[in-house]
Amino acid sequence: MGQATVVDEIVVTPQETGFGALIEGVDLSRPPSPSALAQIKAAWARHSVVAFPDQPLSLEALEAFTQAIGPFGEDPFIAPMPGHPNVLELRREPDEKATNFGAGWHSDWSFQKAPPAATLLRSQVIPPVGGDTLFADCSRAYEALSPVMQAMLEGLRAVHSASRAYGTQGVFAKETAKRTMEIIVSPEADKTLTHPLVRTHPVTGRKALFVSPVYTVGIEGMTVKESQAVLGFLFAHIVQDEFVYRHKWRKDMLLMWDNRCTVHFAEGGYDGHLRVLHRTTVAGDVPV
Ligand code: SIN
Repeated sequence: MGQATVVDEIVVTPQETGFGALIEGVDLSRPPSPSALAQIKAAWARHSVVAFPDQPLSLEALEAFTQAIGPFGEDPFIAPMPGHPNVLELRREPDEKATNFGAGWHSDWSFQKAPPAATLLRSQVIPPVGGDTLFADCSRAYEALSPVMQAMLEGLRAVHSASRAYGTQGVFAKETAKRTMEIIVSPEADKTLTHPLVRTHPVTGRKALFVSPVYTVGIEGMTVKESQAVLGFLFAHIVQDEFVYRHKWRKDMLLMWDNRCTVHFAEGGYDGHLRVLHRTTVAGDVPV
């Protein structure tokens, strides 16, 4: 861990690598004070992935804190929790054999016109082994590219689609193994749209690569082979160890990440154990 800074009671401890931070000294079961909220937002903008340990939040408290960050985003293709239209339960039973949810690098719902700025994930049941969530820093990955490569990517538009996951020919459409989470396969998921391949963060002004192997299916104006070559290079570049933070869960932890400048991957390795987390999203802007 890096050097902690204390302002009011909030303690922000950056990870050693400078990507990700721990936030302590705040009880999120109550509305945070305006000053605490401002500090949390500033830490989130600076560190991209912030973890709040020891937060045994009710679903209502999770919803309230989410709305303190911003209005709810729209969560397509997964049935929400009964009575909680903005909360998804990420649940995998001990006897499930289907690939765990989120097991591919992605930025949440990047196929939407205005993808979510934040995702919040609160742990309820954490398996004794496996189940880490990995994050890659797409700002640092962009900054590490040569000026020549940066100039080549600048101005390109990447094609995003939910088709590989939720489309009519996608992974979930073909799945036969039992899955507890109710996935909604839909022709809507086969649609495509484009976003800048390099986007600028609306708060920090930093540029970040905005592509992922799950939802980016091409580059506008390029042949399939050209797109595959460029995207293949970028996907491998982004997930190098030097850009990755491995989040190890404990029960009652809340994690909040920035989908505008990170991608993430949910690791498996916990067959035979229950894993339950609750997830909300905060609406974002149209990427520029
Ligand atoms: C996801 O939101 O992609 C899943 C994250 C996780 O289950 O760790």
